[in-house]
Parts: sequence; C-alpha cells; structure tokens
Amino acid sequence: MLRLVVPLLILLSLTMSVGWSAPGDIHIAIETKRTALVILVDKDQNPTVVHVGPKLDRADEYAKISGNGKRGEDYTGLYNSAYTPAGSRNLLEPAIQVTHADGNPSLDLRYVRHERKPVGEGIVETTVFLKDPQYPFEVELHYKAYLLEDVIEQWSVIRHTEKNSVVLHKYASANLYIPAQHYYLTHFHGDWAQEMNPVEEPLTEGLKVLDTKLGTRADLFQPPSFLVALNQPAEEDKGEVVAGTLAWSGNYQIAFEVDPLHNLRLMAGINPYASAYTLAPGKEFATPAFLYTYSNTGKGTASRNLHRWARKFRIPQGEGNRLTLLNNWEATYFDFNEEKLTELFKDGKKLGVDLFLLDDGWFGNKYPRNNDRAALGDWQENVKKLPHGLGYLVKQAEEAGIKFGIWVEPEMVSPKSELYEKHADWVLKLPNRQEYYFRNQLVLDLTNPKVQDFVYGVVDDIMTKNPTLSYIKWDCNAVIYNAFSATNPNPSHLYVDYVRGLYKVMERLRTKYPALPMMLCSGGGGRVDYGALRYFTEFWPSDNTDGLERVFIQWNYSYFFPAIATCNHVTDWGKQPIKFRTDVAMMGKIGYDIVVSKLDEKELEFSQQALKTYDQIKDVVWHGDLFRLVSPYEADLASLMYVNDAKDKAVWFSYLIKNRYRAGSVAPIRLKGLDPARNYAIRELNVYPGTKSAINATPQVYSGNYLMTIGFNPTVDTRRTSVVLELSESK
Ligand code: GLA
Repeated sequence: MLRLVVPLLILLSLTMSVGWSAPGDIHIAIETKRTALVILVDKDQNPTVVHVGPKLDRADEYAKISGNGKRGEDYTGLYNSAYTPAGSRNLLEPAIQVTHADGNPSLDLRYVRHERKPVGEGIVETTVFLKDPQYPFEVELHYKAYLLEDVIEQWSVIRHTEKNSVVLHKYASANLYIPAQHYYLTHFHGDWAQEMNPVEEPLTEGLKVLDTKLGTRADLFQPPSFLVALNQPAEEDKGEVVAGTLAWSGNYQIAFEVDPLHNLRLMAGINPYASAYTLAPGKEFATPAFLYTYSNTGKGTASRNLHRWARKFRIPQGEGNRLTLLNNWEATYFDFNEEKLTELFKDGKKLGVDLFLLDDGWFGNKYPRNNDRAALGDWQENVKKLPHGLGYLVKQAEEAGIKFGIWVEPEMVSPKSELYEKHADWVLKLPNRQEYYFRNQLVLDLTNPKVQDFVYGVVDDIMTKNPTLSYIKWDCNAVIYNAFSATNPNPSHLYVDYVRGLYKVMERLRTKYPALPMMLCSGGGGRVDYGALRYFTEFWPSDNTDGLERVFIQWNYSYFFPAIATCNHVTDWGKQPIKFRTDVAMMGKIGYDIVVSKLDEKELEFSQQALKTYDQIKDVVWHGDLFRLVSPYEADLASLMYVNDAKDKAVWFSYLIKNRYRAGSVAPIRLKGLDPARNYAIRELNVYPGTKSAINATPQVYSGNYLMTIGFNPTVDTRRTSVVLELSESK
C-alpha cells in the first residue's frame, strides 16, 4: 500500500509546482522525492537552468529563483541555457549545432510550451517544447523523473519541416548548469584488464572533455560515467555530488565547462566526432538518455539511487534471480572436445553451480576456431570438437543436473572465415586502405539491415534449435578501425547507426526471449553502460579476476552499477588464496573459471560450502543497499556492506589490500544502513576448513546504534586477509 501512496503524494505535489514569477517568466520544476531541476523561461522565451539540487519545501518558491548563482555579467543570457544552440550569439560550448536546409549555420531555440504526465508508477515525464523563431525546426527536451530513486533520465528529440535535409553537427542529450565555488570531477580510465581507475581533479575555467571514438568496445579507455562533487571533494556520506552516466554503447562526449562566471556547464551526448547527421524533413532524431542523480549526502547516496533505479527500471530481471556458473574459458581456452566438456559438466555439478558456460572455440569448420585468428562469423559447431552438436551438449549438461549456456561474439568477423569470403560488403573497412585488425578481427556493419538479421539469427538459431539453452554471453572484442560502411549512403551516420542497429537486434532478441539471462561482455569491461544494460541481465567488468585487483575494479563500478548485474568469477588470476577470491566474487553474481578437478580437498570443500552460503546471502547482495565503509584508496583495507530493505539482514565484506607490518583493521569499523533500535547477531561466514573464527566462538549481539556509533572490528590482518560477516536481526 505504502508503495502506491508515496508516489501518489509526490505526484500531487508535482502538479502544483509550476509557478509564475513575473508575466512571461515560467518556472518548470522537475522534482523527485528529494531533488529538483528548475527551468526558467524568461520573458524572451529563453529556457535556462536555474537550479539543480535539493527540492524546496515550498514549490511556489521556485518562482523566486532568477539568476542561478550567476556571478557577474552573462553577455549572452545563454550561459545557463537548457539546451545551448550554436551559431547565433552563443559564445560557449553548444549542446546543439546545425546547418539549416538553406545553409544558415545558426540556431535559436525558444520555449513554446511544456507538458507533464505520469508515465509509470513513480515516474513523471516533463517535456519542454522549443522552436526556432525563424525556421520550422523544433527540439523537445524530455525529463523523466524517477521520484523515489531521485534519478532523472534526460534526452532530446529533434525534428524539422524545412524544404530539405538539415545537418546536425552536434546533438547532446542533456545540458545542465550547476553553480558552486569549486568543482571536483571524478572520472575513470583504463585499458584491457585494468578497467575503472578513478581520478579526481578540480575543474578549472575552460573545457574538460570525456570521450571515446572507439565505436564498439567504446569504454575500453574511458567509460561514460562520472561524479562531480560541488564545493569540496566527493565524500562517501557527505557533500553535494552529481553522478551521471550516458546510456549509449558507442562514441560519446561529456563536456564540463567552467564558464567565465565560474559556473559549471555540462553537455553530455553522442560524440559529434565524424558524426554529422543528415535529418530529412518530417523525420525525428532522438538522442540517447543521460542519467543523473543529485545527492547532498555524498557518493554513497548517489550510488544507491542509481542502483535502485537500475534494478527497478532498467536491467532485465533487475529485481529477480541470477544463475551461478562454471565457465571453461580459463580452464581449457580453445582446447576442448565433447568428452572434456562432459567431465566439466560433472565438475560444475559437484561444485554446486547452476549452469555451465561454454566459451569461445566451439565453432568454425573450414577455418576452425582453435585460436583467435579465425572463424568469427561461422557460427556452426566445429564437427571435430563437437561431432554431435550443441543439442547433445545441452542434453549431457542437463543429464549431469546443470543448465547450459554459450559464448557468442556475433558483431564480429575474422578475415579468415567463410562469412568474410561470402560477404566482404558486410564488413566495416575502407576501400584503398590497409585492413587493421583488433584481436585479429573486424567489425560487421550493423547499420545494414541484412547484417542485423544475420546477427539476430546467430542467437535466434541457437535458441530455436536448443530451446532449453539457458544463458548467452555476448562478447565484443574489437574496436572499429577504418570506419566505413559499403552500403550506408551517409558515411558520417556510421557510428550512430551502428549502435542503433545493435539496439534493434537486442530489442528483437529481448522481445522473443524476455527471460533469457545474457551477459554483456567486451573483452572485459569495454562496454558497460545503461544503453546496453536495457537488454542484458549482467555485465563482465574485466578479464582481470585477480582478487586484489577486483576489490578496486568492483569498488569503482559500484558507484554506478548494482551488484546483481556485476559478474565476478573465481579464477586462478593473482596470488590471493581461494578464500579471498571467493569472498570478493560474492559481492555480485558469483561464477567460476577454474579447473575444479585441480582443487585440493579443502579448496573444494570450501568452494562447495561457499556456494551454499551464497544461496543464503545472495538476496541481500543482489537486492539490498550497498554501503561503502572503508576505501581501499585511503586505508590498508577495503570494507563494504549490503543491507536488505527490511534491515534485518546485512552482509559485510572486508579485505586486506596492503601488506605492511601490522597492516589491518586496527580499530572498529563503523557500520551503516542498520536500524539503530534493533539488535544484530554477528557471525563469520566462509570460514576456511581447518581454521576457526574467534568471532564465532562467543555470541556477538549488538544494537544497530552501537554498531553504527562505535563499530566492530572484523579483525582483518595478514593472517585473515578477507573476512565476511553476516548480521541478522536478533529478537
Ligand atoms: C574475451 C572475454 C573473455 C573470453 C574471451 C574468449 O576476452 O572477455 O572472457 O570470453 O574473450 O575469446
């Protein structure tokens, strides 16, 4: 009942929130439960952003906001435009730049009207309609407010009825204006196996741009996710933070401009690089969405907002279940056959996972996939390795009591493949240029509907022939070199149309297979964004599964993406003991990529027990709130906990990440997110066979108040490098 009443109340207050401060001045307040974005339309009908921050108690007072903290003269009146047009009087980085059909390279956008409507339980969409006074050229600014989650999803729709096509040179999804004394940007960079390294830097006057031009595998160097802290560097539970991420799996550009008035302008959208888009009259161009949340209680709240939003509204089965699995990639690489796999099914069953995932190497006959230099595109079972086909394997797995899933990389083609020989025009490459390969492969032209059918068919054929196949790992291991399509008449549409083509394929697959679990993989975390995560139940953060590295990698993804979507596998990477690797993998969706038969007796016993324990705690990790307690960037250890909604259960993970003398948890760690009035019993989980937990030796019961005020020492040290504790309400 409460679930229904709260959004209703918020909705009621929202309908009251349009105020008029002066004749001609309109304030449009886009509110969530705790935040507001306010657009002021001035007497000349210019739409400007005058507030991004906490919601006001009294909606009528939005009408009193005028200057948005402008410190001094704004020559154009456009510094805080809600969608800055280029070419006329704007002096700063634009959100949109076009050339009209008659060659005029300028745009003016004035407010026409706005409307607001509920578009789902707890979601209100506001649309602001803008128009060029001289040209039949319109832009709609869409703001979807997710009320309880404090998340705004913003995009724009561009259309015109000019006599001929208009060229869109830049077409951002969102344009914000945020005044503060100081700005601290946290962005992330990396490469293969070293994804998501954070850098926090003050923003100074001028432009700072995050972008990618890689086409596919777009996030290899830099993902489209960031935090901006206002006035002071971002803290976990303190301070004002905007967390933002672009829902787009291709080239993006996020520009931060501290303007001459020392206010922050933010433009986020598709990268204009090599992407001028010709828009015919009567057609629409819809940008991808920019997602953001504002918090004045630090990064922790911002991440929990995004997690809750993602679970409820974005990720398929985001509030549902996931399968644990055994993957054969690192166990066999390309070297396997039916007998070997059948043994691995039994190993998976013995271990206690739900599913066996057959990785790369199962396909290609003329050019068998025995290494990564051939066969992408030839998605037929290799008859030498798998003489009885996939159907036989699915059956064998099921007989062993385990589900079966499979790896595909359908967007790609190996130059050594029958597909390349038959359909060279389906491949992205330039005439008169040397072919450049990334992991020995090329990218298919997903702007071509025939290629879309082919790529769709790869998964659809497998699923049609094997209806009980239960999991798809969708990989994407190459960037786009020599970006050119043989069939797309507009070369500069390629990067945009590629992603749209990919989404069309995924949309078809999701419509036909709504419940199929699918992993989004891109040679590790080369493609982790909320555009793709509309279709995928989970993502592969990195090929780097070294337990120690993972503490950091998962920590950083956790700012934006929830644990239920984060696939963590226990493998042989790194020097950490299996307990450490397992504990780390439990902070998300656990899987294994090891040779089970090589585990010694204790390792096997530990892993079997860990999977049973995981069954008991996964609900809290998947569906609960994450609280980061001790940052590995600031201490000898990392510590974080998940608390369920009912606040009667929590799971707390701590890891030693430095090895110096006496490194460890020397003092109690204060917990978060508990109910102060309730009592909690603490019990250590994942205790390694043959060792004892001093914590479990005596009953440990504390109030939430005590644990959050004084804390508890999990006793992490060089002998106990990882510790998992469960807190259960004790009545
Ligand atoms: C990528 C993936 C790995 C594995 C290999 C197979 O690198 O990230 O997990 O699937 O491809 O070639």
